[in-house]
Amino acid sequence: MNILIIGVGGFIGSHLSDEIIYNHEDWRVIGIDITSSKVDHLLSKKKFKFIQADILKDFDLLEKQINECDIVFSLAAIASPLVYVQDPLKIFELDFEANLRIVRLAAKYDKRLIFPSTSEVYGMCSDEEFDEETSNFVTGPVCKQRWIYSCSKQMLDRVIYAYGIRDRLRYTLFRPFNWIGPRLDNIYNENSGSSRVVSQFLSNILHGGNINLVDGGKQSRCFTYISDAIEALIKIIENNDNCADKQIFNIGTPYNEITVKALANKIIEFSRKYEKIKNQVANIKIVNADSVEYYGQSYQDVFKRVPSIKKAQNILKWMPVVGIDELLIKTMDFYFK
Ligand code: UGA
Repeated sequence: MNILIIGVGGFIGSHLSDEIIYNHEDWRVIGIDITSSKVDHLLSKKKFKFIQADILKDFDLLEKQINECDIVFSLAAIASPLVYVQDPLKIFELDFEANLRIVRLAAKYDKRLIFPSTSEVYGMCSDEEFDEETSNFVTGPVCKQRWIYSCSKQMLDRVIYAYGIRDRLRYTLFRPFNWIGPRLDNIYNENSGSSRVVSQFLSNILHGGNINLVDGGKQSRCFTYISDAIEALIKIIENNDNCADKQIFNIGTPYNEITVKALANKIIEFSRKYEKIKNQVANIKIVNADSVEYYGQSYQDVFKRVPSIKKAQNILKWMPVVGIDELLIKTMDFYFK
């Protein structure tokens, strides 16, 4: 089976490729990205082919590769809240427009499409647990540009669903809930707010800066370790009895819910054991940051985000196993050991 991974050089693409190359003999990866830095270790593998290309420009190449593969993963997207507010059109052009082209090609050539939706589609939904079939999508006004990512992804979900009905497109949508692990972001970038919360805090510690709790850090997230997440994606690829066809799955770890403040405290506590950052940790301060000052006027936060994973449990027979302490330590080992 030839699996085309568009955006193979990203966090998810690189871990998915590792799992396929090392543990699934009959599967082959054709990876497309503008950079190979997170998959350089795979370049010499027979079952891995890397094609350097830009999905915003190299349309003919993209069409040829989609036509030739068996399954398409379309993982190329920007998923950083700071970019949603600073450069929303970049999100529209890459996350929406370029991906829409891929969706249409998958439909044209009758390929199975495995596509990342996002936990962000639920927005500020007040449900205790977000459910794929019943929860409403709640976003803010247009001036709150943070929601352009959520809306871009929501529209693609709806388009893919409609192709499933009209053209019988075989698709699976998965919704990551704060997946973390090695290679998540470049923590060596000192610019505040350039990455997601866990990697941002690690970067703050490494550079001896303050840890900022946006609006006090009472908001919570459920973090999922990348190995658990990849196991779900493998089950989706395997697709036993076509169980994943035309389905949407939340892929998250509800029992790992933690407030941002508690997360900061845990990360500081764990940091003390690493030689590389021991000195910096001693001087780290946790400070409150106003969201308008930190992200700008057009930011709006999600206060609580917990997935229901009943569908993934029942249909995919998937259950995450890595707890919050373990996933933080594994991630920190990668950056600091
Ligand atoms: C993220 C991103 O949109 C995507 O990576 C992804 O689609 C989605 O969540 C997901 O993985 O489920 P969010 O969780 O809001 O959104 O992004 P983070 O930047 O990781 O922020 C988490 C929380 O920490 C927010 O409440 C934010 O305000 C806070 N934060 C972030 C801080 O308190 N301090 C910081 O320095 C950075």
